[in-house]
Amino acid sequence: MENKLHVKFKYVYYHTWCDLINSAKKGEIDIVFAAQKTPSRLNYLHFTDTVLIQQNMVLENINAKKINSIKELFGKKVAVTKGSAISEYLQAKYPQIRLIQTHSELEALKLLNSKKVSAAIAETVRANYYIQKHNLNDIFPAFNLNYNYYLKIATNIKEPVLNIIISKALNSIPQDKMKALKLKWGYIKEKIVIFDKKTMIFIALLFTIIIAFLIYLHTINRKLKREILKKEQALKRLKRLRDSKLNQINQAISIIAHQWKQPLSTLKALNELLIKEYKLGKLDEKALKQYETNSKKQIEYMINTINDFKEIFKIKENKKTFNLKEIIDLAIDECQAELQKSNIKIKLNTRNITLKGYPNTLKQLLINLISNAKDALNQKNPKNKEIKISLKQDDFITIEIEDNAGGIPIEIIDKIFEPYFTTKKEGTGLGLYMTKIILEEKMNATIDVENTKKGAKFTIKIKPRSEE
Ligand SMILES: Nc1ncnc2c1ncn2[C@@H]1O[C@H](COP(=O)(O)OP(=O)(O)O)[C@@H](O)[C@H]1O
Ligand SMILES: [Mg+2]
Repeated sequence: MENKLHVKFKYVYYHTWCDLINSAKKGEIDIVFAAQKTPSRLNYLHFTDTVLIQQNMVLENINAKKINSIKELFGKKVAVTKGSAISEYLQAKYPQIRLIQTHSELEALKLLNSKKVSAAIAETVRANYYIQKHNLNDIFPAFNLNYNYYLKIATNIKEPVLNIIISKALNSIPQDKMKALKLKWGYIKEKIVIFDKKTMIFIALLFTIIIAFLIYLHTINRKLKREILKKEQALKRLKRLRDSKLNQINQAISIIAHQWKQPLSTLKALNELLIKEYKLGKLDEKALKQYETNSKKQIEYMINTINDFKEIFKIKENKKTFNLKEIIDLAIDECQAELQKSNIKIKLNTRNITLKGYPNTLKQLLINLISNAKDALNQKNPKNKEIKISLKQDDFITIEIEDNAGGIPIEIIDKIFEPYFTTKKEGTGLGLYMTKIILEEKMNATIDVENTKKGAKFTIKIKPRSEE
């Protein structure tokens, strides 16, 4: 203002607002830089436009009963600065309030802090400042009084030109400059927010509840995710199991269809021939006998195929604990007649080993291998035909079946586990193929073959205590 007007102001300081206003009334000062326009002041002051808006607030003592409205102050002691605009306003509007006039806002606040009055009324920003500076910790805001200070620059009424000069100077200050000046004084609304203890406790509680709830949600969510994952994995396992089962059935049907094609068409032709010859009267005893042997052979071949396949479906057998040595003995027992006929000796080197699995199926697989060895021995007919069977356990349980029939020709050794591969006239070529599938898929085991000095050696390795 001084810069704008090129004049120097002389500042007069007063101890209290009351002294200042009294001095202005007497015409001892020319300008009051921030004053509220009140009816009584208009008698001795002129006012410019508003330069600053301040809020007035009713403050209460936290240890007293909560005050919610102005009416609750009727008949009560309320401290307010003597000569202030708010004091004038309250006297006129609410004469029921017992106003205690103090010399300053600080004095009013101190009275409230020591509970000598029920409430105090002060401007918000200044109250906040005093409360912090003087540790008036029992004072809390009750509510905003709907009476704001629209502070203007007041000038002595006896010097009307002063008002015109100051107003002009004010209007020449740009809006943003004014705003910046107000900010410098600390009049930012956000800064004035004061929470009382109860609100703070409430907010803290609310926060705790929200955080607890979020943690709860998070845990539930994680639990659900884990369960979903588990279910998905179980479903996948089930699907794999079903797929492999379907695969097996598919394979079985296509293999049977393949195996039966030939004998079925032979049987069909035989049948047609039989009827034709009968109609022609050519069917004699000898011809009929020939038909019978011929068709019997075909049918037997078909039965053989089915018997081979029964093993796959026998896996419905329940899992049980059994002694492997006993199963080997049983398999040998079942082959005994055939072996004796072929003059084959069995050399055993076994021990007691218990295992959980499908003993009957395993027995059939062993019979298969023994029968293959028998076929090879009968074909090659070496001296002292023998089959060595041994059983031992280290990391794996190992069963070895070795013959002395000279082994498998190197050109075909890679093919013997393939379906239909056979070198025998009446062979199906399915025995080793199925043995391998059942061992791998149902018993968590493997089968391999190698040629030794004497003959072929088949090795089965089973993972002990494996869960299938
Ligand atoms: N111990 C063995 N010694 C020599 N060759 C064998 C032996 N075991 C199997 N083989 C060969 O493997 C082929 C396939 O055997 P397998 O699958 O049981 O069918 P199949 O017995 O019906 O021929 C046999 O035809 C044979 O050539
Ligand atoms: Mg065979």
